[in-house]
Amino acid sequence: MEDRSQWGTRLGFLLAAMGSAIGLGNIWRFPATAYANGGGAFFIPYLFALITAGIPMLIMEYTIGHKYRSSAPRSFKRISKGMEWLGWWQVAISFIISTYYPVIVAWAVMYAYFSIGQTWGNDPEGFFAVDFLQVSEAGVFGSMVPTVLYPLLAIWIIVFIILFRGVKKGIELANKIFIPLLILSFLLIVIRAVTLPGALAGLDAFFAPDWSTIRDGSVWVAAYGQIFFSLSIAFAIMITFSSYLPKKSDITNNAFITGFANSSFELLAGIGVFAALGFMSSQIGEPISDVVRSGVGLAFMVFPAIISEMPASGFFGVLFFGSLVLAGLSSMVSISETYIAGIQEKFNFSRRTSVIIGTGAAAILSLFFANQGGLNLLDTVDYFINNYGVALVGLFEVLAIGWFARELKALQSHANGVSDIMIGTWWRFSIAVITPAVLGYMMLQNLRTDMM
Ligand code: PHE
Ligand code: NA
Repeated sequence: MEDRSQWGTRLGFLLAAMGSAIGLGNIWRFPATAYANGGGAFFIPYLFALITAGIPMLIMEYTIGHKYRSSAPRSFKRISKGMEWLGWWQVAISFIISTYYPVIVAWAVMYAYFSIGQTWGNDPEGFFAVDFLQVSEAGVFGSMVPTVLYPLLAIWIIVFIILFRGVKKGIELANKIFIPLLILSFLLIVIRAVTLPGALAGLDAFFAPDWSTIRDGSVWVAAYGQIFFSLSIAFAIMITFSSYLPKKSDITNNAFITGFANSSFELLAGIGVFAALGFMSSQIGEPISDVVRSGVGLAFMVFPAIISEMPASGFFGVLFFGSLVLAGLSSMVSISETYIAGIQEKFNFSRRTSVIIGTGAAAILSLFFANQGGLNLLDTVDYFINNYGVALVGLFEVLAIGWFARELKALQSHANGVSDIMIGTWWRFSIAVITPAVLGYMMLQNLRTDMM
């Protein structure tokens, strides 16, 4: 029997799982997605997606990892010989993400630094698109904007050290520091944001329900898409993490805790972001609908403008971008662990050799995203990964487990054997019927809009 790494405590595992789940998706993706898809009314499809796909898939992935005690490729292989490729496909997606995710984290590091003196001046958009990206591409030393390669390198060194130290002394310890710090700094920002003038109008805009959206299929697709991405499902992560659980560990309750913690953070981010947008709109006299952005635009164009308008700008700027860094780092560690565990098992390498090879390769590739062309590359890759990679691989995963290998009953009894909460028909129906139907519909919709 091999000597498999293990988490030191249940809390350690939960914090690591939350660290993976809570990421940029919560802070910059959820608020705008909810707003664009019905505001307050979005919570219905969103909660439905959480209960019928998010938590059931988490339970399934936790059970697979716990039962087969392997990273995703070998877990799937142990279920059925013909399924190993499914694990590698997920690992490959995670590997690709890990080549551009750290670049965004590096930008956040630089912006934390810029916040101190609001280096972006009174045109944050132009600053980001022109000064920031072009100067960092040229790598002009000693210019106002230092090159992004330094923070990028620093991030890789941190990720390397965490992974090199192993599951308990590395990943678990890091998350025990990152997650409390992240929650604390984010809470401070949200409290500040909701007490700014105009915040209430922002919250009104965020929560105002547009019930007509409930009948729109694309809103449901957006809800399931958000849940999948946000819970790091079908990325090989949760299988890998749960493979380090001791034999006597709860599964189902842990999945509920992870799912609700992630959604709570998402809701908190929605409140903070829209309170801040409400403040911004009242300061510049433009409607909220005109200042809403998501992703890179929200973090690096809108937020700098908001920060400049705020009292104690430097402090809150550092807190905001520092939160992005913490959220991003803990997700980074989790994505990288998938291929480290994968190659370690496949080639019988030591953990340390796998860490050197895995993070080394990803770090070198990440340099391609660290220049101006990188932003376009990032957009394209991100789009395909989210719309085809994950939805498709998630679809294959539920079909393979539910219909091809017919593993659901076995997984159910495994989970029930160790968990506080029992699962049954609801769980099997969610995995075998609801999730494949929604993911299949999602794929068709994406194909249709892309063909037009
Ligand atoms: N779940 C993370 C988020 O919400 C994103 C992520 C996806 C992280 C896949 C790692 C892997 O931001
Ligand atoms: Na998330």
